[in-house]
Order: sequence, then C-alpha cells, then structure tokens
Amino acid sequence: MSSASVTAELFRRVMGHFATGITVVTVEREPGKVHGMTANSLASVSLQPLLVSICVDEESRLLSFLKTQRRFGVSILNDTQQALSEHFATGEQGPDADARLGIRYRWTESRIPLLEDALAHLACNVVAEYSAGDHTIFLGEVESVDLGEGQPLLFYRGQYRTLQS
Ligand SMILES: Cc1cc2nc3c(=O)[nH]c(=O)nc-3n(C[C@H](O)[C@H](O)[C@H](O)COP(=O)(O)O)c2cc1C
Repeated sequence: MSSASVTAELFRRVMGHFATGITVVTVEREPGKVHGMTANSLASVSLQPLLVSICVDEESRLLSFLKTQRRFGVSILNDTQQALSEHFATGEQGPDADARLGIRYRWTESRIPLLEDALAHLACNVVAEYSAGDHTIFLGEVESVDLGEGQPLLFYRGQYRTLQS
C-alpha cells in the first residue's frame, strides 16, 4: 500500500492497534496550579541519560505551559482511573472538577506536579523539543520516579481496556 492511499482515518485506525498505557502529563501553569493532559504518546528513549519523549498537539493548551515551564510530570494511570483519563482529555480543569473527581496532586522537591494514586510517576526536565507536523516532540530527562500499586489502564482500538478485558 503506497503512502498516498493512507488517509488520516486509516492511519489512526492502524495506530489504534498499537496497545498503550495511559498517562496524564502535568505542568505547573501558574504558581501552585496544575494543567494536565491525557497522553498515550509516552516512549522510553534512552537509558544514559534517562530520557523519555512525549508528543504534544499544537492545538493543546498544555503546549504553551510546557514551553514556558520546561518541566513536566507523567502519571501512569491504573485501571481504576479511566474517569481521570477522560477528564484530562476533555474536561474543564479547576478546583471544582478536582473536588468532584477526587483529584489530588503531589509535588516533587523541585516543584513538578504529579497525580496522587497513579500506578507510576516520572518527573522530567525538558532537554529538547522538535516540531513534528501538527505535534511537538518533547524530550524529557528523568529526574525522579516512583512506583505505586495496581494494574495499568490500557488503550486499544479507541477503547479503554484493562488486562482482564
Ligand atoms: C487515550 C488518549 C491519548 C491521548 N494522547 C495524546 C498525546 O499523546 N498527545 C496529545 O497532544 N494529545 C493526546 N490526547 C488528546 C488530549 O488529551 C486532548 O486533546 C486534550 O484535550 C488536550 O489537552 P489541553 O488542550 O487541555 O492541554 C489523547 C487523548 C486520549 C483520550
């Protein structure tokens, strides 16, 4: 199949067959306030130094916060946290939504925000960014990590899944 016949819709459908976990990328948007964005583009890039990449839509609100702050948290969601994934993919953010959904943040010593109760966390400093089509790829050097308990929330063929479903 030549690339000329690959429509965006077909490309999305094909890439949907690549099962992923789900993360929420968090950035301090103003002192003490957090903006989060659901993202499944997280990839492990390098062990020496420790690098990850995320791809951020040019249209997203997160982009300008990330370009300014140049550091971000990644919370890998567990299988009880689908509502958080939906919220950070679509919802209006703020104290009301945080209270309704029971969203709590924790901060690293270097003031990188993370979601409490996630399956795992990474705190990263941006070391490079590359414009790539309608997204920007950010390379983040990993400053700290931690592991929680539970099973991952998965995304496959446009649907949330768990290891059992
Ligand atoms: C499962 C899933 C994965 C997503 N992954 C990404 C991603 O990797 N990068 C991205 O820019 N948007 C991704 N999105 C879309 C954003 O979460 C969505 O456009 C969000 O509203 C943009 O955030 P913001 O404008 O509030 O910053 C994903 C959405 C879902 C549901």
